Amino acid sequence: MHAFKKNELTTENSHGVNISIDKLTKRFHKSILYQDFALEIPSSQITCIFGPNGCGKSTLLNLIAGLIPSDSGQILFGGRVRSDIKIGYVFQNYRDALFPWLRAIDNIKYPLTSAGISNIQCRLRTEELIHQFNVQFDLNRYPYELSGGQQQLVSIMRSLAINPNILFLDEPFSALDYEATLSIRDKLQEVFVKTGVTIVVMKK
Ligand SMILES: Nc1ncnc2c1ncn2[C@@H]1O[C@H](COP(=O)(O)OP(=O)(O)OP(=O)(O)O)[C@@H](O)[C@H]1O
Ligand SMILES: [Mg+2]
Repeated sequence: MHAFKKNELTTENSHGVNISIDKLTKRFHKSILYQDFALEIPSSQITCIFGPNGCGKSTLLNLIAGLIPSDSGQILFGGRVRSDIKIGYVFQNYRDALFPWLRAIDNIKYPLTSAGISNIQCRLRTEELIHQFNVQFDLNRYPYELSGGQQQLVSIMRSLAINPNILFLDEPFSALDYEATLSIRDKLQEVFVKTGVTIVVMKK
């Protein structure tokens, strides 16, 4: 697996943070996936990591996001710990990523409501995202009533709701057709330029 930096744009309102991984070790049962692994992911840039099926891309994101524990090693965020920063995560498995019992709009609001943000602020932020992504379908529908591409867009909007310092995109365009990929890529680029969020993209 190798990583390289793609895109170095000037940011106006940079609030991204860098990710420093050192001596990371992760085993599943007896097989070692990462051993003494070190990686510096720069702040406020788009880093794309390429690797074949099963090489450990999703596991690395899950380790950084704190969704699974490492066996040893250190992950720091601009010298700070994970709880001090906001991470947005668009999961690879987009069909299972949305809460099926919540309408699309409530999925997008979920990170805000669970952070105790007021109703009015939630509504304003959601309206901003709907406008930004030019959403053309009914967000009052439940995830099962949406196409795969629509679900993936809802996942992306939900990940951005909290205005994260770091955004993880694990195969984010897998369900999108050519036009939708170009359009959402442009929107993400706008978000990146506007906020300076650190973006990590996983790709086969
Ligand atoms: N919870 C788990 N328990 C046991 N093994 C696991 C677990 N999660 C992942 N693995 C193993 O770790 C390896 C890396 O998996 P991971 O999902 O990170 O790969 P990936 O690079 O994201 O693959 P893909 O390109 O197919 O998404 C695989 O061999 C997988 O079988
Ligand atoms: Mg994966």
